[in-house]
Amino acid sequence: MAGLIPKDFIQDLIARADVVEVVDSRVRLKKAGRNYQACCPFHNEKSPSFTVAPDKQFYHCFGCGAHGNALDFLMEYDGLEFPDAVEELAAMLGVEVIREQTAGRGGKPVDKQQQADDYALMEDCAKFFAAQLRSHPDKARVIDYLKGRGLSGQTVKDFDIGYAPEAWDTVMKQFGKGRDAESQLLALKMITENDRGRRYDFFRDRIMFPIRDRRGRVVGFGGRVLDKGEPKYLNSPETRIFHKGRELYGFWQVKQAHKHIDSVVLVEGYMDVVALAQHGVTNAVASLGTAATTEHLQLLFRHTPVVICCFDGDRAGRDAAWRALENALPLLKDGVDMRFLFLPDGQDPDSLVQEQGKAGFEAQLEQAKALTDYFFEHLLDNIDISSDAGKSTLVGKAKPLIGQVASEFYRDLMMNRLAQILGRDPSQLQQLVPAPAKTAVKRDQSQGPKMTPMLRAMGLLVQYPYLGKTVDVHEELVDLGMEGAKVFVALHQQCHTHSLTTAQLLEQWRDTRFAESLNRLALWQHGVLEENIEKEFAETFLFLIDSYLEQRLQKLQSMNPAQLDRTHLSEMDRLLKLLKRR
Ligand code: GTP
Ligand code: MN
Repeated sequence: MAGLIPKDFIQDLIARADVVEVVDSRVRLKKAGRNYQACCPFHNEKSPSFTVAPDKQFYHCFGCGAHGNALDFLMEYDGLEFPDAVEELAAMLGVEVIREQTAGRGGKPVDKQQQADDYALMEDCAKFFAAQLRSHPDKARVIDYLKGRGLSGQTVKDFDIGYAPEAWDTVMKQFGKGRDAESQLLALKMITENDRGRRYDFFRDRIMFPIRDRRGRVVGFGGRVLDKGEPKYLNSPETRIFHKGRELYGFWQVKQAHKHIDSVVLVEGYMDVVALAQHGVTNAVASLGTAATTEHLQLLFRHTPVVICCFDGDRAGRDAAWRALENALPLLKDGVDMRFLFLPDGQDPDSLVQEQGKAGFEAQLEQAKALTDYFFEHLLDNIDISSDAGKSTLVGKAKPLIGQVASEFYRDLMMNRLAQILGRDPSQLQQLVPAPAKTAVKRDQSQGPKMTPMLRAMGLLVQYPYLGKTVDVHEELVDLGMEGAKVFVALHQQCHTHSLTTAQLLEQWRDTRFAESLNRLALWQHGVLEENIEKEFAETFLFLIDSYLEQRLQKLQSMNPAQLDRTHLSEMDRLLKLLKRR
């Protein structure tokens, strides 16, 4: 049953997870003293300012200000929504996500429920299609086709390839029992409806390739005809769980095969991915019949530094390559590399690897063109630069494209090449290409507002939650007329009664309006020597209590003497004594 994920469960996950391991699974970390470091995955840099602190279970980039716990990292790095990040972290730890049984009440839980059911239904469909290879009366014809394409039984299994039988109602009958089930099939486009309202299977007599999202869930299918027929490939249309611009066929399998992905080969077809994998090239992915989008490329560059586009040498392949290049320009940062390989007419990665094997294919990959080479080759294709008009056309086309490039290194490289082609001095061109507006890079907020004693106390508590156990909780401090007093007492209570890391403490405040300020406090550079932390906190805490006592005393003293009763007087007396002792 899908529902809200209980807060306790999330806390427990944070407690069990090791942020160092989580980050290291995506970005190689190096030990540096007590902490771990890497070049920040969220902005371009040459020397590492991204730090992961195992004691706080918290990461922070001093360059761009990115920060958070294991869940924040997964959200930011994998581009996941919060519940998906929880699922991902749970999967990494091998635990099943618990959900509250709230389905049926309120809007959100129902959506979650539906989503979970959608994935389950798509998985069942994939299993059902795969089972047809063993049980359908036509299976011999299908298996002959797959064998004819050179696929082994193991490969068919690895990619869960299946068969959708030649009938109008196979899926309808199997999964469409009842009105709800039918409308779900319709929503997921596993069945379709004609003008007269008749419903029937969307995929018929096709080889089925399940498309898995980055977390391995089946979100759609590609279906190929067995013989001649139109269209050759039929893809699931967009649905509430399937967005072509986001998914890459084979990416899940690549992630399964490699902890660290040295490079990814981007190809055009399902069969290319599958055939390459069978021959041991286990790092190929395909976009789904469209050019690679910026989102696709961003996903790839989050997981690998090198993307090699390997396309057919025909018109369609060249167009796809150029569009991929255009979409990659804003992502080009230092350490990232994109290359281009065009195969001779009539060849595709599938036929090439079947013919020449892994070594032969990889030898071809070695020949891939550098991005800059391909960039100018393509632009110069239709421009005659022997004329001044041609030269100016080239500058006009190259300029805005180079301007999109994120990295200074790449921009310089491309500008120098442009200058060289035009026989000019690079400095003459530099003014022509403005650097792109700085985006994404956030200001480090740790040098934010002035630290009041209240903020200092909170900051220390957030960074060293054990301090909460070193002094008693004073609930009366909520009445202290200082900004943040209520939050401080709540924080103190949490730290006093539980043993928490910074990450766990901050997790409790996610989605509250204080979350951002507390995160900022977690990054505050307090400058206190480690051995003085406890003393520092004790003194700050005492200052807060004194301030409270003084405020209280002042209030009593400013009251109309006629209103003061005996308890007031004895409280005043006590306060005066307490304050004098300090
Ligand atoms: P095979 O002929 O099976 O080897 O296919 P391929 O993988 O070599 O495919 P091809 O190069 O013909 O096409 C590359 C990709 O484009 C396919 O994997 C599909 O995603 C997509 N594609 C090809 N033909 C069609 C079509 O008719 N319709 C749609 N929507 N997509 C297609
Ligand atoms: Mn092919």
